[in-house]
Amino acid sequence: MNELNVVVDNARTSFQQAATPAELENAKALFLGKSGRITELMKGMVALPVEEKKSRGAAINLAKQAIEAALNDRRQALADAELQAQLQAEALDVTLPGRQRGQGGLHPVSLTLERIEAIFGSMGFDVAQGPEIETDWFNFTALNTPEDHPARSMHDTFYVEGGAANAPNLLRTHTSPMQIRYAVQHVKQHRAALGSGWTDGSLFSGSMPEIRVIAPGRTYRVDSDATHSPMFHQCEGLWVGENVSFKDLKFVFTDFCRTFFESDDLVLRFRPSFFPFTEPSAEIDIQFQSGPLTGRWLEVAGSGQVHPNVVRNMGLDPEKYMGFAFGMGPDRLAMLRYGVNDLRLFFDGDIRFLSQFV
Ligand code: DAH
Repeated sequence: MNELNVVVDNARTSFQQAATPAELENAKALFLGKSGRITELMKGMVALPVEEKKSRGAAINLAKQAIEAALNDRRQALADAELQAQLQAEALDVTLPGRQRGQGGLHPVSLTLERIEAIFGSMGFDVAQGPEIETDWFNFTALNTPEDHPARSMHDTFYVEGGAANAPNLLRTHTSPMQIRYAVQHVKQHRAALGSGWTDGSLFSGSMPEIRVIAPGRTYRVDSDATHSPMFHQCEGLWVGENVSFKDLKFVFTDFCRTFFESDDLVLRFRPSFFPFTEPSAEIDIQFQSGPLTGRWLEVAGSGQVHPNVVRNMGLDPEKYMGFAFGMGPDRLAMLRYGVNDLRLFFDGDIRFLSQFV
């Protein structure tokens, strides 16, 4: 191989070995720079005779062109490689699914409360909300459960400290205090409309529209196991008028249960019981005629004819006004409707459980 071919070959090899544009420029200088191989070869021509200069010059030029071509090829190759690497690094997978906001939903107990409100609403019941921190009067005494009454022991609760006499001092153990709160407000309003004032202890025996209300909400007791939670829900119902009786309770509650469970052949049983604020009192049991719970009696509510002392505490004359009340457990209704067997699941806040109801 002649000398020039060796130079071209060496140049190609060192360009090929250059891994970056900077290395390539260094390699270029070795061959095409001011003191590079080609320049040296050119300088070496000075001593040659004129005829030889011509052919030698042409040959060196060819070698120079070959080296420049190799240099450009390598430059292009390095630039291409860099572009590829950059494209690779910034690659976007356009087939990936987009980021989405999680879809929220109502809690199964909220869904149940909404359902209860809708059904009673369609039967003309108002919906009332009341305080969760109650006074002893509304939670117990006004409901015919004076201090030291044995029924209080079943309603052990959480007491809050301090406060003046008759200030809110406990977490309500049931929604029944709303019977008194709502009825008193109702009676006050109608006495004001009639121009007959309200004084504590005076009993109203005039005419007024019926009281028909449900009061759903949170309630509290010192209780915790698979079917009891220290915080749970109740929904109170109250219907008071001049001629409202137990048969109305039976009719309304049967209608409610059949609508709630979407089961026309559902059977109800009113089992005699005791509550201080009703007389007579009954526990309400339901029995499904189909589905997984067929045949079993399941307790869903306490109920009864409002006790005359309670009617008095509403500011009404019990000789003129009577009615019925009931208190049910929406948590339990939700368990029955959705087939859930541990109440605590509702309040653990586990998204995997709760998202099943969305
Ligand atoms: N408040 C009662 C309880 O928590 C339930 C109850 C029973 C409510 C009878 C009523 C009723 O309105 O009439 O155990």
